[in-house]
Amino acid sequence: MKAIISNNVQEAKALLQNGDIVAIPTETVYGLAANALNAAAVAKIFEAKNRPFFDPLIVHVASVEEAEKYVQTIPAPLLRLMQTFSPGPLTVLLKKKDVIPDIVTSGLDTVGIRIPNHPLTLALLAALDFPLCAPSANPFGYVSPTSAQHVFNQLADRIPFILDGGKCAVGVESTIVGMENDEVVVYRLGGIAIEEIEKIAGKVKLTISQGSNPKAPGMLDVHYAPSTQLHVGDVGSLATQFQALRLGLISFSDTYTDIPFVQRNILSPTGNLNEAAANLFEVLRSFDEKNIDIIIAETFPEKGLGRAINDRLRRASTK
Ligand code: TXA
Ligand code: MG
Repeated sequence: MKAIISNNVQEAKALLQNGDIVAIPTETVYGLAANALNAAAVAKIFEAKNRPFFDPLIVHVASVEEAEKYVQTIPAPLLRLMQTFSPGPLTVLLKKKDVIPDIVTSGLDTVGIRIPNHPLTLALLAALDFPLCAPSANPFGYVSPTSAQHVFNQLADRIPFILDGGKCAVGVESTIVGMENDEVVVYRLGGIAIEEIEKIAGKVKLTISQGSNPKAPGMLDVHYAPSTQLHVGDVGSLATQFQALRLGLISFSDTYTDIPFVQRNILSPTGNLNEAAANLFEVLRSFDEKNIDIIIAETFPEKGLGRAINDRLRRASTK
């Protein structure tokens, strides 16, 4: 098998109707999609990604009305969040209905629902009479793909088709929210900043898993990692620590011209955190193709999408 890269929605539709898996573009990262109501099709996703079955998948739908077919009730605060940020980089954990097979949720009674904001994938969802479950389209544990080429580089031999929707505009995965005891909880930092969520839902609780035995399956500590060693922190002292080696830099807007980096990646020369997030995963991947011993990343400002960037850098870093 060698994946075809194309922007033909009809072809993607035909494959999905046939129980095949297809990579799809979203505004966050590319997903690897299957008919969420067809357990055998969903199993192919786990196989292609080498993903453990205890890690549940997100179900993508075209609208809030569509979501209601697959969940029991939507608590008012979560409904407000969905109405405000959908389509967009938000995933909401809700009690599932029985039509959603257990393989999708790893046997949990909740399902993650998301309305992605990408014209091709919204057109695809509108053309299908089933929802699409899709994890990020990368081998388990690796950096998520933000272009069709990234997907091709790693999964071309394992999937038939990549729906090409260009570079992902947001570049980090969706923010995952749910409710516990009448409180809105954020489980994964992502494309919608906490500050934006709190404007709608009030103060939220953060339950971002830090350990190797997370409460939410799949929110593993080591994740999103490139093959090259990565260290996050104060750039000057890390550069001194590793000075005999070939160093690569990931910075926000600073160029650190006084340090002899072999490769410099400045995520946003103008200091825009959204732009930085959109470039992050592409830059993390780029080091694996270069002859770099150590990547040094600075800590980003802990606000807006800077928090999601720091979260991904910390998870990608060498422990
Ligand atoms: O932006 C995104 O969310 C992308 C695009 C493709 O939509 N998808 C994505 O999927 O990041 P994935 O599978 O790579 O990450 C989903 C995370 C996993 O950590 C999984 O454990 C968690 O969501 N998750 C999914 N359903 C869950 C549930 N019912 N309860 C707890 N965690 C859940
Ligand atoms: Mg993923």
